[in-house]
Amino acid sequence: TTRSLFLLPGDGIGPEAMAEVTKLIDHMNAAENAGFVTDTGLVGGSAFDAHGEAISEADMEKAMAADAVLFGAVGGPKWDGVPYDKRPEAGLLRLRKDMQLFANLRPAICYPALADASSLKRDVIEGLDILIVRELTGGVYFGEPKEIVDLGNGQKRGIDTQVYDTFEIERISGVAFELARTRAGKVCSMEKRNVMKSGVLWNEVVTATHAAHYADVELTHMLADAGGMQLVRWPKQFDVIVTDNLFGDMLSDVAAMLTGSLGMLPSASLGAPDAATGKRKALYEPVHGSAPDIAGQGLANPIAMIASFAMCLRYSFAMTDEAARLESAIAKVLDDGLRTADIMGEGARKVSTAEMGDAILAA
Ligand code: NAI
Ligand code: MG
Repeated sequence: TTRSLFLLPGDGIGPEAMAEVTKLIDHMNAAENAGFVTDTGLVGGSAFDAHGEAISEADMEKAMAADAVLFGAVGGPKWDGVPYDKRPEAGLLRLRKDMQLFANLRPAICYPALADASSLKRDVIEGLDILIVRELTGGVYFGEPKEIVDLGNGQKRGIDTQVYDTFEIERISGVAFELARTRAGKVCSMEKRNVMKSGVLWNEVVTATHAAHYADVELTHMLADAGGMQLVRWPKQFDVIVTDNLFGDMLSDVAAMLTGSLGMLPSASLGAPDAATGKRKALYEPVHGSAPDIAGQGLANPIAMIASFAMCLRYSFAMTDEAARLESAIAKVLDDGLRTADIMGEGARKVSTAEMGDAILAA
């Protein structure tokens, strides 16, 4: 088998973090005959510097054709003045839009070695392993009308519109149910049906999708505000949470911070299965940005990027064992006391980006 990966390291610490993933890919090819074929493109400020766009058409085509895209990070003060449609983030938005990445997966797992670094008590988060599935291409961020209207009496009106159609709720809940089957088998759907019509429809469609295709999965519903409270009170009650774009944005940020540093958090964004091959388009990226404050100094924590690659192994290539081995290698290196600066604690050994990557590869 060949497995095609398109690498978009981007700006700032993006390339530094990606270099540690490249080591893993090379090792898997050499030692385990994994058959990864990689190609590398430019995105963000580095693409703008090279050809005046946040991503070139040629690189867009490669991203569309690859089995999976690994994305580092984009942006930095150097490009603050570039035109809005060419700013670094435009490259990521273009990828999400053209690849139709409607499902954003954000895991929150607790590494035992870091449990005491959380702001929550150890017993609340020890062993935590939840997955938030956020709808990424619909809802109030995109619904029309979306405008500021001048009311003419010194008043203006800001309007955003929450819109969800049946098919959008069906496909995002389908992803959540399928993922739950590979985990603890539980989905909690969150909306605000008490005050929102789109919430009523969301609840109905999730319930119907469950009954029609996924009755083996346990489904519960929670109002999204109560869900936010429960995430902080007792997060281990959840396995998979499925929710809309706006609530998912907030709830996934809350869930992320249950377990610690930005430098640890991976994500995946998935599209619909291809009609012919059944394969989903997919992009994997750390949650953090390009961290210009620490770029080029070997200070970046590569774990978020490496854990994103583990998600890629699991979701794009069904390499479940390899993903689990990589994740336990991360846990082991943390158990051994190795820390990049962002997660440094008492009695730990401070290492550089490359030393952390090498240790994970060795483990
Ligand atoms: P950021 O995530 O780049 O950095 C926030 C803070 O966390 C900084 O102090 C940084 O040093 C630290 N940090 C982030 N990742 C780290 C890592 N792997 N290891 C160690 N420390 C880490 O967010 P910020 O500062 O708001 O934005 C910086 C640039 O990144 C901006 O241009 C922004 O637009 C862009 N950005 C890009 C994203 C993306 O490419 N998806 C997401 C968020 C921001
Ligand atoms: Mg957010």
